[in-house]
Amino acid sequence: LIEAGGAGRPRAPIGVFDSGVGGLTVLRALVEALPARDFVYLGDTARLPYGTKSPETVVRYALNAAETLADCGIDCLVVACNTASAVALPALRERFEEFPVIGVLEPGADAACAATRTGHIAVIATESTVQGGAYTRAILQRHPESRVTAQACQLFVALAEEGWHEGAVAQAAAARYLEPIFASGAQSCGAERRSAPDTLVLGCTHFPMLESAIREAVGPHVTIIDSAHPTAQVVRATLGEQGRGSAAGTLRFLATDGVERFARVGGRFLGREIRADEVELIAL
Ligand code: DGL
Repeated sequence: LIEAGGAGRPRAPIGVFDSGVGGLTVLRALVEALPARDFVYLGDTARLPYGTKSPETVVRYALNAAETLADCGIDCLVVACNTASAVALPALRERFEEFPVIGVLEPGADAACAATRTGHIAVIATESTVQGGAYTRAILQRHPESRVTAQACQLFVALAEEGWHEGAVAQAAAARYLEPIFASGAQSCGAERRSAPDTLVLGCTHFPMLESAIREAVGPHVTIIDSAHPTAQVVRATLGEQGRGSAAGTLRFLATDGVERFARVGGRFLGREIRADEVELIAL
């Protein structure tokens, strides 16, 4: 199963899943890091959003998605969804011992801890990622002296899905969510005047699409962490030298609903056109 066509390219694809098209920002980074590898991407569009569901439901959905990808003969699973990474990684790793399971949360937390100078890190994510506190725990485990300010920005998911990445609505939403955290002096608490965060983790796969509106709200000096690239580096390190061949790998897309919408919206997230006839409709 390892060598294909004598080109030295492993035949087993890397499986990637998300609740929808947001994880295509992670797939984009994976393809850049591992251009010779084949990928199969599953967007669970029928059940999006995961970010407002209970942890039990998200674990069940994540196991369903991973079963389908395991049936595709994958040799690595990338959980390209922060919400699923926050709650379902232990269950996925227990169920699938035959291949590595890599989430986006730990690489994002590593990158934030490496970037911060003041130790004050902000995390923006979906409601359930924030409520579960997994980012805060991951950052404090690595950097116990840190202070973490977490803010749910659920509306960003809808704005990214709608293609409203820039302009007045995106800017107003970013200002509403972020200015209270980043405005100078806004963190004052009694006599104690606290500094604003110097690092911001985009803890949801949709949020990189709104980066320019987010940048405008937080100002030029904050380091913005998108976990897509750190995650791709972890996948590459985990798989060793595989994927460095000269032949370009293939992409296969699976969606649980709305293949046309997946193609239309997903193309923006992936940074290249996706045709509706490239997307296979599946049931989980
Ligand atoms: N993909 C999800 C995440 O990264 C955001 C969308 C959703 O709520 O399902 O958390």
